[in-house]
Amino acid sequence: MQQLHVPQGKYILSRYPERKKENLRAWDAADEMLLLHVHEQDWLTTDDRLLIMNDSFGALSVAMAMYKPEMLSDSYLAMQGTRTNLKANAIADGKVSIITSMDTLQGTYDRVLIKIPKSLAQLEAQLYQIRPHLHARSSIIAAGMVKAIHTSTLELFERIIGPTRTSLARKKARMIFCQYDHDLDPGINPYPREYILDNRDYRIINHASVFSQQSLDIGSRFFIEHIPSSTQAKKIVDLGCGNGVIGLIAAERNPAAELYFIDESYMAVASAQATFTAAFGNSRKATFSVADGLEGFADNSIDLILNNPPFHQHNAVGDSVAWQMFTAAKNVLRQGGELWVIGNRHLGYHVKLKRLFGNYANIASNRKFVILKAVKR
Ligand SMILES: C[S@@+](CC[C@H](N)C(=O)[O-])C[C@H]1O[C@@H](n2cnc3c(N)ncnc32)[C@H](O)[C@@H]1O
Repeated sequence: MQQLHVPQGKYILSRYPERKKENLRAWDAADEMLLLHVHEQDWLTTDDRLLIMNDSFGALSVAMAMYKPEMLSDSYLAMQGTRTNLKANAIADGKVSIITSMDTLQGTYDRVLIKIPKSLAQLEAQLYQIRPHLHARSSIIAAGMVKAIHTSTLELFERIIGPTRTSLARKKARMIFCQYDHDLDPGINPYPREYILDNRDYRIINHASVFSQQSLDIGSRFFIEHIPSSTQAKKIVDLGCGNGVIGLIAAERNPAAELYFIDESYMAVASAQATFTAAFGNSRKATFSVADGLEGFADNSIDLILNNPPFHQHNAVGDSVAWQMFTAAKNVLRQGGELWVIGNRHLGYHVKLKRLFGNYANIASNRKFVILKAVKR
């Protein structure tokens, strides 16, 4: 828990989920730059309708709560972080309306603040999403760390919204100012996109923010070659499902199994659902949930968990999410149930699995990846 000190006030903020030895802040220099700018410029009044997009853990929403913003995010963790931080600062939940990336926007916004997402595709889809909800006097300010802002980023604003300029960089952050041009015709939002899984007829449907949305990731490709087929596997979880390609192949190889698709990204879960429905219609039992890992699953309830863990989360690099997922998997698996994991060889997941499960087997490996299995005993 740390304190953000900005002209709007002092706020206690933490990342979500909160970890014991957290050394990363719940905000960055781009958040500070935006908050300072909107204050100095008297950028908005309480009569303005404000939309905040991609707020990481609620730093902007908490500091701007007096304007009753709407906070739009694709991330369940970001939303939970925002709720937790509102509470930590004694701000009523109702001051910030949280909307998901898959919700339909209503009406027009006078002011829009955008934190630049890591994925250019996600930004592109978001600019298409907000364009119909702008008017001639709408003002849009985006901000991000310099390393996340490229010529291609600015071109998206120019092409989809209107004239764009940037601020000077400060503390490695910079702002983008964009004016809505009513006469611009940016064409239609190209998302969701799809590709056909090679040698098979499956359509893999990808909303913009999804992991490897243009083509099958090489790790996922290796994983699907080895997905097991077992009469024991009645309940299978695709944990961190992305577009659902792993669970799709698991369903094919285990025709009697019921599938569960979990991701913290709303676009991922929507993609997995679209992919699965395109393949099986309503003929297979499947559940699609936006959640933090395996929260909500009963202990000893699942036969097989398939996991290609995230390595980056909210610009932080590390394996703590993988560790969290493996730990939860051990509780949720029934006795004899199996966790199958793919990872880059250098990540050393086998050490974690051995520590948690007391066993692991090397199913397959190539120069880059290793597929491991751990059994709950
Ligand atoms: C490496 S991708 C794998 C995607 C897909 N399974 C594949 O193999 O192509 C990891 C996925 O984990 C999701 N993820 C990250 N943190 C999560 C969490 N705490 N709970 C659930 N899913 C999470 C990410 O959104 C991402 O879709």
